[in-house]
Amino acid sequence: LTSLAKYIKSSDCGKVILMLGAGVSTSAGIPDFRSPETGLYSNLARLNLPHPEAVFEINFFRRNPVPFYTLAHELYPGRFRPTITHSFIRLLAEKELLHTCFTQNIDTLERRAGVPEDKIIEAHGSFATQRCIECNASYDDEKMKDHIFRKQIAKCNKCGGYVKPDIVFFGEDLPLNFKLAVPHLRTADLLIVMGTSLTVHPFASLAQMVDKTCPRVLINLDHVGDFGARTDDVILLGKCDDVVRMLCKELGWEEEL
Ligand code: OAD
Ligand code: ZN
Repeated sequence: LTSLAKYIKSSDCGKVILMLGAGVSTSAGIPDFRSPETGLYSNLARLNLPHPEAVFEINFFRRNPVPFYTLAHELYPGRFRPTITHSFIRLLAEKELLHTCFTQNIDTLERRAGVPEDKIIEAHGSFATQRCIECNASYDDEKMKDHIFRKQIAKCNKCGGYVKPDIVFFGEDLPLNFKLAVPHLRTADLLIVMGTSLTVHPFASLAQMVDKTCPRVLINLDHVGDFGARTDDVILLGKCDDVVRMLCKELGWEEEL
């Protein structure tokens, strides 16, 4: 941690790139997906799905949008507050060290913590915009919110197809701003991966795209599959908030968290 802090404070480290997953928001009270027992996918029996991920599969949604609409209202952002880890990200931005924050999360807690929007790539989309899955026509945001809160399925005004928020489902493409930002990874001076099992591609592959000389840090409760191993990787096993607090102490940023 001491040498990591030293590196972050040195002039060699100008561009920090982050990769985030659901583990950065569990301390805000939002379950992650794959943790045994507490993860969302272990708690969907009530939705009668063929398998848990089906709730976010575009082909399943086309046949049966009800499970997603049932869940959407629980996942809808607004009730939750950003964590210490989100504050750390805001600090990186304030200190002009943050280049890009790639997040898989749809909870918008990065924005709500004060991280500038132009630094955030919501790789798996968000509830902010909506469209028809058949003809792509956009749909009114407020109307969609009403539908989600009443658990009523929204239908396209043009073709009658089902409408869903622009959350990226399995079987859908990632947003254009994600694709445009990927080449920047090669210019990173430091990659920090936090709170993700790195099981969902293409997001997980980003960790392999930084330069061979770019130090990589993984902060997670447990080891994850697709990080790969490079000799100079720093693996910090623990809760994001705990590790971040210790790192900020080393950096002398503790008071600003
Ligand atoms: P996962 O649930 O797959 O992984 C979360 C990781 O965070 C696990 O390795 C946990 O052990 C770890 N974790 C949990 N709490 C933590 C904490 N307080 N501190 C540190 N680590 C912690 O979630 P993601 O990797 O984000 O996609 O999942 C990726 C994608 O799968 C999601 O974006 C979602 C899902 O299907 C879509 O819905 C499109
Ligand atoms: Zn339509």
